[in-house]
Amino acid sequence: MTGGGNRDTTKLLMERSVPGRVGAVLPQPDVPAQPLPDPSLLRTELDLPEVSEPEVVQYFTALSQRNFSIDTHFYPLGSCTMKYNPKINDEVSFLPGLAGIHPLQPLESAQGALELLYRLQGFLAEITGLPGVGLSTLAGAHGELAGMLMMRAYHLARGDTNRRQVLIPDSAHGTNPASAAMAGFDVVTVVSDDQGNVDLKALHELVGPNLAGVMITLPSTLGLFDTGIVEVCQTVHQAGGLVYGDGANMNALLGRVKLGALGFDVVHLNLHKTFSTPHGGGGPGAGPVCVADSLIPHLPAPVVTQSSGDGAPVYGLAAPARTIGKLSGFHGNFGVLVRAFTYILTLGGEGLRAISGNAVLNANYLMEALKDTYYLPYDRRCMHEVVFSADWQKARGASGLEIVKRLLDYGFHAPTLYFPLIVHEALMIEPTESETWETLDAFIQALRDIDREVTEDPELVRGAPHTTPVSRLDEATAARQPDLRWRAAG
Ligand SMILES: Cc1ncc(COP(=O)(O)O)c(C=O)c1O
Repeated sequence: MTGGGNRDTTKLLMERSVPGRVGAVLPQPDVPAQPLPDPSLLRTELDLPEVSEPEVVQYFTALSQRNFSIDTHFYPLGSCTMKYNPKINDEVSFLPGLAGIHPLQPLESAQGALELLYRLQGFLAEITGLPGVGLSTLAGAHGELAGMLMMRAYHLARGDTNRRQVLIPDSAHGTNPASAAMAGFDVVTVVSDDQGNVDLKALHELVGPNLAGVMITLPSTLGLFDTGIVEVCQTVHQAGGLVYGDGANMNALLGRVKLGALGFDVVHLNLHKTFSTPHGGGGPGAGPVCVADSLIPHLPAPVVTQSSGDGAPVYGLAAPARTIGKLSGFHGNFGVLVRAFTYILTLGGEGLRAISGNAVLNANYLMEALKDTYYLPYDRRCMHEVVFSADWQKARGASGLEIVKRLLDYGFHAPTLYFPLIVHEALMIEPTESETWETLDAFIQALRDIDREVTEDPELVRGAPHTTPVSRLDEATAARQPDLRWRAAG
């Protein structure tokens, strides 16, 4: 597709190789040449492309443009909050004093960086209403593991050794049961009611003396605010358990709801979603944990501390009294934490509140515009994302998978598909706050057009995408047995 004039810049570099062409000229050595200890160590059979520097740049730039990204396309991937990442975040994290810092340098020489982390801990405590914050965990799922290990440490410290059961709603992200199981708990599923809330009757029947706690996502992965959440927290507390909050969907609540005030004891935040830091491909991320007073002694190490010296405050690192230990090499993913700090400072309290307002407004706009075209299983006001089902289209011959593939031809990244599992043919759309009205309208039109195509020309939809460099990939084999070697044809 992206041919450069009459030359295809994406032609493999090996195929563009011309003997003797060089891309870089090395300076003359300023030390005497030394003979190699063993010339047989030099491999002569190594086939490397001989190309110019511009060819290399053109090649990789053209390849990068074959992909979808938040800087090139609308990216409504539900549950992932693929919002625009303002470039000022990167500029600040590239400042030499921050980018060049080393985690092992003496703390006296890193006071500015530690102050930044300390203030970020304060911002996140304020946002969640939970006073203790640990920044060192490197992803949402990592934060979940930290939270569950803290839950375990809390019960064990009280001599409560039988509390092994963790309740998790059937709408939960797969990482929730995985994290609870990794921390040694037995996972028990709680069903949702017909409104998408935790079924309170089922919850009451499940709580008992073996209950360690509940893991709950708010808003849920159905994009719904659980209206029974206070009763859920009270029920679990009355039974002696703790409430874990999966805060991956904080984009819907920023500046409006403090999870601590609702009764949550521990929450993780995905900075790489809500706080506009890069993510994808498993990193780089940050999944800080925020906890109530009762869990502060168990936070992962280190936490950043402030003490008052004679004059200016002094920042340090400390291991909480009954810490669950270290879960990452140093203080966390520093460059990502700097970006989130910048984002929060840039927006301020009012700006953060506007984010959740616009994210929820945008999702409701899409929901209202599309609910006559795509089946809406939970027809009530949604939060930051809306979950449709492609059942109506499937009955006419094109599945959810085929519809989202067809969206690529219209220039939109696919929404999340077939999740949450409790919605058949689920299409989970999260527009975020950062897209314009015009973009949302274009997306709505594309989904309406595709619906029409399903009736008029189902083969067109079933064969999509038609305009991308590659069409249907074998994703499982590509992930499990990637073939990354170039071999000469024949
Ligand atoms: C609701 C929810 N919880 C947890 C996670 C896990 O977060 P991470 O991908 O950062 O590990 C996600 C990620 O998509 C999520 O959507």
